[in-house]
Amino acid sequence: MKVEKDVTKTREMVYETKVREVMTGQVITVGPREPMSTLREILRRNRVSGLPVVEDERLVGIISLEDFIKWLADREEDCPIEEKMTRQLVTVHRDDPVVSAVDKFDKTGLGRLPVISREDGRLVGILTKGDVVEGLLRKLEVDYRAEELRRHRASYIFEDIEADGTTLAFQYQVRGHDFERAGESSTRLKRTLRRLGVHPNVARRVAIASYEAEMNQVVFTEGGTIRARVEPNRVFLEAEDDGPGIADVEQALQPGYSTAPDWVRELGFGAGMGLTNIQQCSDQFQIESEPGKGTRLAVSFFTNE
Ligand SMILES: Nc1ncnc2c1ncn2[C@@H]1O[C@H](COP(=O)(O)OP(=O)(O)O)[C@@H](O)[C@H]1O
Ligand SMILES: [Mg+2]
Repeated sequence: MKVEKDVTKTREMVYETKVREVMTGQVITVGPREPMSTLREILRRNRVSGLPVVEDERLVGIISLEDFIKWLADREEDCPIEEKMTRQLVTVHRDDPVVSAVDKFDKTGLGRLPVISREDGRLVGILTKGDVVEGLLRKLEVDYRAEELRRHRASYIFEDIEADGTTLAFQYQVRGHDFERAGESSTRLKRTLRRLGVHPNVARRVAIASYEAEMNQVVFTEGGTIRARVEPNRVFLEAEDDGPGIADVEQALQPGYSTAPDWVRELGFGAGMGLTNIQQCSDQFQIESEPGKGTRLAVSFFTNE
């Protein structure tokens, strides 16, 4: 489950990030009428394996290390670069999402894509796969730092509050049959717990339980509520819905027992392990259900091991 979430995060970033955020803006270029023999020094000095060919700020071609080696091997006479360069160019715009560049890398097998201004066709940058990876890592790092700071600030809350007893309560609404957003509440709850300084292991256990409860509300009900109460020594989790309820709770608790329809199983749910997982990762477990009325799950996790 965790891995899946991480993949989603990366995918989200690939869609949200623009080419201009990750491209290299300082492009080393050559002119079309410069001789092939000058390439040796330019490629070596700049440690690049390909160069855009530019005339009057306009991109007219691309010449690669491979083109240069071929020219060397053929032992031809020196000639202008334009005679050996590639003119069929695959380019991207600086305001394109990174995902479209990734698609082009995949489809063409190319190592670099020139970045063109949409307004006037000028060459404004160059993009390699390395730029994409570096850029995304940089962005992840920024997100991570921001999250760390938030966590640091929130984690003092129990120390700062002065009371004989402190409880923080969080509530999440779950929509039935909404597979698009399934799991969101649990993700948000987990983030909240981590920010509050709840031990990562406990936060993870709560997140697993709340994820399973949330999925059951999505799959089997018209929707419900997930509530969490955080106390200094305990996290209490409650999942409540208005039906249809469970006819035989004993049976539902059996590992592997599931009434999920085939299409739900095809989505990768319905292994019948949800309630079992909740029981296993919690310290106290309680389930009440009445057919036609609804189901209420109440679980506790102790945080001072
Ligand atoms: N909130 C709920 N409302 C109605 N039925 C439920 C609910 N939660 C669980 N069930 C029933 O209990 C069964 C077992 O649940 P679970 O262990 O999570 O397995 P799964 O979700 O994979 O079927 C479900 O197949 C379903 O019949
Ligand atoms: Mg389930």
